[in-house]
Amino acid sequence: MNSESTSKDLLSEINQDHFRERLNKYTRKAFQMLPKLEKPRILDVGCGSGVPTIELAKLSDGEIIGIDIKQSSLDELNGKIEEEGFSSRVKTVKCSLFEMDFPDESFDIIWAEGSIWIIGFEKGLKEWRRLLKPNGFLVVHDEIKTVSNKLKKIPSYGYKLMNHFSLPEDAHWTEYYRPLEIRIKELYMKYKNNSEALKILKKHQNEIDMVKWNPKEHSSAFYIMQKS
Ligand SMILES: C[S@@+](CC[C@H](N)C(=O)[O-])C[C@H]1O[C@@H](n2cnc3c(N)ncnc32)[C@H](O)[C@@H]1O
Repeated sequence: MNSESTSKDLLSEINQDHFRERLNKYTRKAFQMLPKLEKPRILDVGCGSGVPTIELAKLSDGEIIGIDIKQSSLDELNGKIEEEGFSSRVKTVKCSLFEMDFPDESFDIIWAEGSIWIIGFEKGLKEWRRLLKPNGFLVVHDEIKTVSNKLKKIPSYGYKLMNHFSLPEDAHWTEYYRPLEIRIKELYMKYKNNSEALKILKKHQNEIDMVKWNPKEHSSAFYIMQKS
């Protein structure tokens, strides 16, 4: 087995998305805090392999554009879009969230799970505002650190805070990383004689350990805002 196929086979065996889907209940909770919109245009910023993107397609009858810089993640998402029969209303675009050149007022909702930190909470709010239609919504899932600062600053960037909620402190650990760790341990046994595979598994285990020893550091919250 060459190293490219080891990596591909392992990634599909690990199937991180299967565990990521356990956090979809929070995506649903945030979406249900929005008023009912007819066929909303939704931009999913930093969509990755699209676990929330597909959930948004199930929750709405809207048109969704997922953007990300990683083509392999978009390829994965494109496969899911086709499988789920969403090809007519869910599309992906490879671009950086620093360079989203959509026309002003293109979207009813901007959705950003785990991606606003890349540009920074304040800069993201400031720069993405022009993309929202009047009274459009920005929903962000971000780390909980400095939450009170963030809440205070939202109005100064031209939004009204409609709602916000924290995930249970250990949600990322109990619902995602702990079950993922069990899968990684099984694969360690299976691939114990494959040094290439063991290297990849170790990388995953290192990421898991960072959360395992510090679950509270990874607490997060949803912020539901409306353009004012
Ligand atoms: C933590 S993941 C979140 C993925 C997905 N939203 C989710 O919740 O499962 C962050 C995503 O941001 C993407 N990303 C990183 N830098 C980016 C950039 N400059 N522009 C667009 N996407 C970026 C990564 O490729 C990754 O898919």
